[in-house]
Formats: sequence, C-alpha cells, structure tokens
Amino acid sequence: MQALLSGVPIVMVQLGAVTAWAIHVSGHWGLATTLLVTGAVNGFDWFGRVAGAVITEAPGTRAWQQATSRFAGGHDLMELPPGLDLVTGESPRPSTGERDRFEQLQLVGLTAVHDDGTLGAIDVDLTVHRGELVLLLGQIGSGKSSLLSAMAGLVSHRGTLRWNGRAVDDTQAFLRPGRVAHVAQVPRVLSGTFADNIRLDHDREVDRSIVDARLARDVEDAGGAHALVGHRGVRLSGGQVQRLALARALAADAELLVADDVSSALDATTEVELWDSLRARGSTVVGATTKRAALARADRVVVLVQGRVAASGPWSELEPDWGHLAG
Ligand SMILES: Nc1ncnc2c1ncn2[C@@H]1O[C@H](COP(=O)(O)OP(=O)(O)OP(=O)(O)O)[C@@H](O)[C@H]1O
Ligand SMILES: [Mg+2]
Repeated sequence: MQALLSGVPIVMVQLGAVTAWAIHVSGHWGLATTLLVTGAVNGFDWFGRVAGAVITEAPGTRAWQQATSRFAGGHDLMELPPGLDLVTGESPRPSTGERDRFEQLQLVGLTAVHDDGTLGAIDVDLTVHRGELVLLLGQIGSGKSSLLSAMAGLVSHRGTLRWNGRAVDDTQAFLRPGRVAHVAQVPRVLSGTFADNIRLDHDREVDRSIVDARLARDVEDAGGAHALVGHRGVRLSGGQVQRLALARALAADAELLVADDVSSALDATTEVELWDSLRARGSTVVGATTKRAALARADRVVVLVQGRVAASGPWSELEPDWGHLAG
C-alpha cells in the first residue's frame, strides 16, 4: 500500500512533465508556459506524498502511542502532568511521604526475591520494635543487602511484612520516607551539590543531617554544602558517598532507618558514635555491619548464613560462635 501510494504520484508527476515538454516540442506551448506547468506539476508531487503518508503512517503512529502509553501506566504521553513545563524545567513540588508513628515491623517467613528470581534472603522471621538498633551480620553474599532492600520495599518479597501489625502488600508504595529511609550499599549520587543530594527537592534540614552523618569535615573541605559533587559524585570517595547517602536518609527523618553497610564509610569509633546519637534521637535502625564495637551496641544481632537466619540475640551471646564473622 505504501509503495503504491508513494510510487503512483511520482509516476503521474513525471508523466505530466514529459507531456508538457512534448507539447512544447510540438510547437503548441512556448518555453515560459512549459516551465510553469512542469514546476506546478512537480509541486503536486509533494501533496501526493503527504496524503499517502497520512494514510500509511497513521495506523503505525497510533499503535506506537497506545503501546508507549501502556508502558507509562495508561497515561496519555501527549498530555503533560499538571504543573510540568518542559521548556523552563518547572515541576510540581514532590509530595511529602505519609507518616505514622512506628511501633513495630514484623517479618514473617519473608523471602527477598530479586528481579531475575534469585532468592536473596530466605524465610526470615524478624521483629523490630520502636527505638531498637538491630544489626545484621553475615559473610559476603549472605543476603544482608537483599533483606534490607526488601524491608525498604526496593526488592519484592514473598511472605508477610507487617507494619504496626498491619500487613503491607504494596511495600514499594508504603515503605517510603517518612516511614522508611534506606541507605544503599552503593548509593546513587546526583550531579548537583551536597545540599541538592540531601534535600532531593524537598524542604529538609541539611546542616544538621551533615553533622549527624559525620560528613561535616568533608563538606567544609569541599567549600560548603553548596559545593558541587561532580558528575554523579565522581569527586567523592566511597566513604563520602556513603555518608552523603546517610545524611540524605537522616534528613528524611523517617520513622525507620535501614542502613546497609555504613561500616565501610566510618571507622569503628565514629560508627559507634553514630549509632549512639541515633539512639539518643530515639531512631529505630536496622543495619548491616562487621564491626564488633558496633555489634556490641546493638539490641539484637541477626546472623545470616546463605540467606537464612542462623542466630539472633545480643552480641554477648553470639560472639563465641559467630565472632569470626566480625572484623
Ligand atoms: N540485584 C540482584 N539481582 C539478582 N541477584 C542478586 C541481586 N543482588 C544480590 N543478588 C544475589 O542475592 C544473594 C545475596 O546477596 P546480597 O547482596 O544480599 O548479600 P550481602 O550479604 O549483602 O553481601 P555483601 O556482604 O557482599 O554486601 C547473592 O547470591 C547475590 O548474588
Ligand atoms: Mg550487601
């Protein structure tokens, strides 16, 4: 159909031009008339093509729009969300997450399932109460990050997760700041300033979080909270990235802080100071660490072996059997 619709006008137009010149050669038309007619006929070629394209391209375009709109969750992509301006970069303020006083988080037979089906942590039973510091310990690949991510709704799960006794189905939507803040093992940094990275466009307290996350000296050396961190944070060391992510999580002032592997960013004394100051604030923290001094501060240590909970209790009880896992 497409070949026909774009081919026929071309052939017709060329026939028209040849005919005009034939009339000229036979002596009926002068040169000016012939040039005018061939020019006009060539111009019609364009109309033919456009008309052909409308007929042949329209169904494909419509199908493409419908498919992309389905990917976008049913939104019409030609219609911008209210308050968004692509030219000026204006966008609506982010909404502040819902918040309710945290009393307890209960995992019952929770299995963290990664996108490719890999089971990260398997059949975990764990209850975290308000104000507690619970630290996970385990060898590399034992499932600490997977479990923590599932507790922050970042990895899907099987089993039950209860927030204040209520089962949560859509963890991705429910476990967000102000309920839960998550510090990833390898956090993402935006190519802006320290303050941008901490505020994330919200109205959040920056300076206190920088101090609490033990990032104050680094920020001062860089020239203040409005210093740039480079493309996706290339100017920062691994430890600085981790502390920046921690500051971001603290600024969210969430009910529950889930902090993966902050020990790689802090020395033992600073880490203990951090946990102590969070306890003083009454924060509830679930984290992963390898530091003995930090483990000794925890209300409960949970040992993971190949994704399963092998032991759980105060570090004083676990140390004889599991001390080899701590650094
Ligand atoms: N995004 C992912 N997709 C698929 N499998 C994953 C993913 N992340 C982790 N895994 C797998 O899940 C298991 C547990 O990994 P996890 O990262 O939770 O361990 P970890 O205890 O945090 O290790 P580490 O001490 O190195 O941080 C491993 O077998 C790992 O290969
Ligand atoms: Mg990990």
